[in-house]
Amino acid sequence: MLELKTRKTQKMIEPETGLTILDHALKHDVDWGFSCIRGTCARCRCYIASGRELLEAPTEAEEDRLEPEEIEQGYRLACQCIVKQGGDISVTHKPYF
Ligand code: FES
Repeated sequence: MLELKTRKTQKMIEPETGLTILDHALKHDVDWGFSCIRGTCARCRCYIASGRELLEAPTEAEEDRLEPEEIEQGYRLACQCIVKQGGDISVTHKPYF
């Protein structure tokens, strides 16, 4: 299952390969802050608590926008972060502000 957590809500949904984390949030009415959908604003930034190996590698946009240490620690941009494979994934919305 894919767990999506924000400050206000927490939802368990079925992950779909090929969709981004943000796609999942929007499809399941989770109020996930975002703006650009191109990997530049970082409003959609999130922390992958588990299931990192089930996601596609960070995109060039994520590598430009996030610090290497952030990526290392498990931070991603939800609009860029695509589910590669089903399984248990836990994601928390963690914008900078
Ligand atoms: S919505 Fe702007 S970086 Fe994801």
